[in-house]
Amino acid sequence: MNIHPMWKNYPELAKELNSTLKLMDSNVNLKNKDVEKAVMSMIHSGGKLLRPAYQLLFSQFGEQRDAKKAIALAAAIELLHTATLIHDDIVDEADIRRSLPTIRSQFGNSTAVYAGDYLFVSCFKLLADYSSSLKSIQLNSRSMEKILSGELGQMDNRYNVDMTIDQYLENISGKTAELFSLSCFVGAYESGSSERFAKNCGKIGENIGLAFQIIDDVLDYTQSTEQIGKPVLEDVRQGVYSLPLLYALEEGRETLLPYLEKGENLTDNETDKIYELVHSFGGVSKAQKLAEKYTQQALKGITKLPETTTDAKKQLLEITQAILVRQN
Ligand code: IPE
Ligand code: IPE
Ligand code: MG
Ligand code: MG
Repeated sequence: MNIHPMWKNYPELAKELNSTLKLMDSNVNLKNKDVEKAVMSMIHSGGKLLRPAYQLLFSQFGEQRDAKKAIALAAAIELLHTATLIHDDIVDEADIRRSLPTIRSQFGNSTAVYAGDYLFVSCFKLLADYSSSLKSIQLNSRSMEKILSGELGQMDNRYNVDMTIDQYLENISGKTAELFSLSCFVGAYESGSSERFAKNCGKIGENIGLAFQIIDDVLDYTQSTEQIGKPVLEDVRQGVYSLPLLYALEEGRETLLPYLEKGENLTDNETDKIYELVHSFGGVSKAQKLAEKYTQQALKGITKLPETTTDAKKQLLEITQAILVRQN
């Protein structure tokens, strides 16, 4: 199995992530060969595996760590993430993900919907088989609800030039931070940590996830499609106003509004102009600063965790810092 090169300096973790991917792969068994191909193609398209990595690292703080179980639960989280990406690309009408054609553009929307559904089901099958208590299943279901609610909050605010930064934060807390938070909680909890300790890990995950999504939105204004392997500047055309634009609106509302009023009819030139204005009104640097703030909060939390023989804390610190300065 080929996993993302970002893990090459973490051989123990890389080994477990490899097993995680293998388990995701070996659980796929479908009569419909198109859907099976779509699911396999998504599993093997080179995702970063960040959520399982956090889950595996946080599982090292518990006294009853069972590697097989930790890997199965990590696979469950990644399956859930993968399902949301396939469905997200349908909703966003995206043609490229992980530098490859999206599942919907390779296989069509129907196959893509079913492939996403199958991945959701596979997630729950693994959870039901490996969780020690109903707690993780309960939490997973609630997380799915929160992800959906974040996505719906974003949809309800499309083309809303009065959207507030608090609304943005609430939406990304649901659509992205929730899954990071769940990964950290479940990792700790299912390896025997107390609920109190695991909740604290979940809080750290929430801060990591907020920083992660803000950076993702910053990259939309700083990188090319080739660099990030997914479409850039589509958000604004589709009326999804992310943090850099919201900050820029605070400074240059009068200048930006005439462009935003064009809605989905923005020309490429006009989108380029918005891009420039978002930079010149300080939207990108302000968003970057807020991501730094959440990362600092996460790092503060990680620093207070106990030492383990496996160096989990050091790895968590490094990876969390790396996410902040990532270029793709
Ligand atoms: C993409 O997440 C979706 C967001 C929350 C921005 P990742 O960037 O972790 O996706 P992959 O799995 O590595 O492609
Ligand atoms: C990612 O949302 C999907 C979820 C978190 C459910 P976005 O639409 O913002 O992310 P990308 O840019 O397509 O990865
Ligand atoms: Mg998208
Ligand atoms: Mg989306």
